[in-house]
Amino acid sequence: MARIDPHSHFDDAQPRTRSWNLRLRVDFERRVLAGTAELRVAAPAGGPLDLDTKGLRIEKVTALDGGADVPFDLAPEAPILGRRLRLTLPPGTAGVAIRYETSPDATGLQWLSPAQTEGKVHPFLFSQCQAIHARTLVPCQDCAVARVTYDAEITVPAPLGAVMSAGPAGEAEAGPGWRTLRFRMPQPIPSYLLALAVGDLAGRDLSPRSRVWAEPATVERAAWEFADTEALVKTAEALFGRYEWDRFDMLVLPPSFPYGGMENPRMTFLTPTLLAGDRSLVDVVAHELAHSWTGNLVTNSTAEHFWLNEGWTVFAERRILRALRGDVAASIAWAVGQKDLDDSLERFRDQPELTRLRTHLEGVDPDDVFSSIPYEKGARFLVALERAVGEERFGRFIEAYMKGFRFQSISTEAFCAFVEKELPGALARIGADAWLDQPGMPADAPRFVSERLEALTALAQGWKDGKRPVAAEVATWHPTELLVYLQRLPELTVADCTWLDGQLGLTARGNHEILVQWLCLAAAAGYEAVFPRIREVLARVGRMKYVRPLYQALGKTGPGRKLAREIFAAAAPTYHALTRRVAEGVMEKYPA
Ligand code: BES
Ligand code: ZN
Repeated sequence: MARIDPHSHFDDAQPRTRSWNLRLRVDFERRVLAGTAELRVAAPAGGPLDLDTKGLRIEKVTALDGGADVPFDLAPEAPILGRRLRLTLPPGTAGVAIRYETSPDATGLQWLSPAQTEGKVHPFLFSQCQAIHARTLVPCQDCAVARVTYDAEITVPAPLGAVMSAGPAGEAEAGPGWRTLRFRMPQPIPSYLLALAVGDLAGRDLSPRSRVWAEPATVERAAWEFADTEALVKTAEALFGRYEWDRFDMLVLPPSFPYGGMENPRMTFLTPTLLAGDRSLVDVVAHELAHSWTGNLVTNSTAEHFWLNEGWTVFAERRILRALRGDVAASIAWAVGQKDLDDSLERFRDQPELTRLRTHLEGVDPDDVFSSIPYEKGARFLVALERAVGEERFGRFIEAYMKGFRFQSISTEAFCAFVEKELPGALARIGADAWLDQPGMPADAPRFVSERLEALTALAQGWKDGKRPVAAEVATWHPTELLVYLQRLPELTVADCTWLDGQLGLTARGNHEILVQWLCLAAAAGYEAVFPRIREVLARVGRMKYVRPLYQALGKTGPGRKLAREIFAAAAPTYHALTRRVAEGVMEKYPA
């Protein structure tokens, strides 16, 4: 018996599941999914089959062939992993049907009341399975190496619609007051890419292969913001090869969605905070799109190799950006990433082992150690490799890598072996061991410079010497330039904040990157004029990237801490479980 993933009961010596057939009813009253999951194995088999479950109520398990009862045993709850469901398959079993239901507090689902939606009339449900929450939706081998195709029949209240990380496959008969929507994902995906959302949904076509979905009140804004999606797809195809997933559709979720985006295949999920009204935040779309190659085609085998997924994707995202908007824009994006990287290095100052690319996560919840390290350090490692061998050779390497590992889930070791074969000596030349297995950043890490970036930096760093931005000029900057400027300002006083806000109208901004960066600076300075705006943002927005620094910044002053506790007490019931945990974690570190 061999467990190969510290976050799964998956046993490599047992049969592998190859396809799922889900038939689930979405019960908004009880906040559960209830129905049957049929799991087929690669070849008829007998003996034990261990599945991951968390919070699931298992009612009955039968064999697909013949319908005989399959004995099962639900082990006690293990920390992080949940309960192992051990089935004992009769010899020659091709698959099983598991009747079950989810728990109302499944961590992979958020059930929203109508008040938490834009339309205020209908409830909403969305899933977020990465990293290890698929087991709270479906009993499964919740592990990236066990890829599956899936079919689903999802029954929802008749006025609502549903989308999945799959193609639509028509509707089936349902009882009065209900609709049953069919879906099909014909390509093998890891369990963390299972996705479902249910609500009052409207769609707008952006191109023949791309549509954006959102609540009706949001969909026009979303269609405008993401109008250039086809250009992103074409650019990515030119860089990384044919888009393999047929359609690239997107869903804009209600604001409690805890991430910026999630690369659910065929249906990327996005936070509505991207709807800045200026098309400046589409780098998140480029990022999720890039996962169609780096991640969804070539996946990391376990969370310990997460950098292979996100590092590659940040690399790819900035490549797309450079192709579309040039070197200067790319240098600014790398600078924003450098700030995220520095913040994460600081956050893990006392746990430096978490700043390696290759990590050890036995007994560690991947959600607790999520940071920008695998993203930004990983991407810089790939740039170091690229600079060592030249862009042209690295381009051919990327092509071979995508071809060689498509639809596979690989480890850092497999990656290194492949690099050694294709680019002999390159790993040694850049000191890859230090990148992969040492904490922090190597001293010779790639730098990204441009005159524009230097000018912005000099202006920000000159603040104490009286250098000030001119409002009319700032109005001509790209929003990401303003972001970099704000990030590079020194600690401000209340008088500084008053002046800046008066000149640049920062508190009223709708671009959440700029807004949140500003609110953090202002909160840290004790500029209480922004408190109502902070309260408004933290009551509405669940994106962890914003929630964490805002609560941190409030922690720097007494009145800020009081406000944070007040906001949290009121907003916690409406937060996603992940968001709640992040906010609690920050506030636990507040001085008493
Ligand atoms: N796959 C991630 C989101 C994720 C990671 C969810 C780990 C759960 C566990 C997604 O592709 C992502 O990285 N989103 C970023 C986008 C940014 C880097 C452009 C985000 O949410 O901010
Ligand atoms: Zn990503």
